[in-house]
Amino acid sequence: MANYQTILVDNKDGVTTITLNRPEKRNAMSPQLHRDMYDCLTDLRYDKDTRVIIITGAGESFCAGQDLKQYFIEMDSQPERVRDEVREKSRQWRNEILRKMPQPVIAKINGWVFGGGFTVVTGCDIAIAADDVQLGLSEVNFGHFPGGEVTIVLSENLQPKHALYYALTGKTMSAKEAERIGLITKAVPRADLDKEVMEIANNLKEKAPSALNAVKEAWYYTFYSNPDVAYEISGLISDKAKAAIGGRPGLQQFARKEYRPGLGSYKVEEKK
Ligand code: ACO
Repeated sequence: MANYQTILVDNKDGVTTITLNRPEKRNAMSPQLHRDMYDCLTDLRYDKDTRVIIITGAGESFCAGQDLKQYFIEMDSQPERVRDEVREKSRQWRNEILRKMPQPVIAKINGWVFGGGFTVVTGCDIAIAADDVQLGLSEVNFGHFPGGEVTIVLSENLQPKHALYYALTGKTMSAKEAERIGLITKAVPRADLDKEVMEIANNLKEKAPSALNAVKEAWYYTFYSNPDVAYEISGLISDKAKAAIGGRPGLQQFARKEYRPGLGSYKVEEKK
């Protein structure tokens, strides 16, 4: 695995954890962090040892949003080419690449989430937070608004009365509130955060990778397509998923009474 300046990457038993690693800046996203995340996810896409990805933050913060100095103030004086490169990478890894990763991605929210950090949370497929975490759309507090992709992504994920309340007031919300409004999957006691996330990762590891990829493709393509196009795409994804596991081995095992699909996964044979 390559070495990165702003993130740590660790693989254990098929689970790759990416840790945003600028704790002294509360894991604010600098231009270099965007480059590192873009490169890292691009590599992991093809990494057969990565069955599940977890994204978390070092120290007491998950992600304090864009780096207000490096991403905004300092970027204003950069050549247009550099500004475009950083903005594209910043947008792509959070709003395209995460969704298109074949592996499921879990946000393990260990601390603060502000502004652009929301799009890391929404970009992940599953988001679990410690119950003492605070999240906020702080942009109005410094005279900006949730710009770039933030409003776009929030309007996809939240009801207007929830999103507009937090975007207009700049107030923080608790993890429980984030769970209630559907921004995250679940808030759990801090002491249970690691255990809960690993339990989900281990569950996902048992499944056929092609089936997990199909769930993601069907979900995200359906979301952005007309129903008739989505239906066609679903048929194609179905054919691809069936070919990837050589037919219907899960249903064959069911017919042989080898397991109960309602209660757990079939035995997935690793493809050599
Ligand atoms: N950009 C750049 N630097 C940051 C950021 C940020 N988003 N957040 C924190 N830092 C830096 C601080 O400047 C400080 O650096 P320094 O030690 O060199 O002075 C260091 O991180 C620690 O910050 P503190 O404020 O001292 O940490 P504290 O734990 O008291 O507070 C908190 C944490 C609440 C996250 C606070 O730092 C904060 O409000 N940060 C800004 C959050 C924010 O509004 N994010 C921008 C969203 S907008 C967007 O993403 C588009």
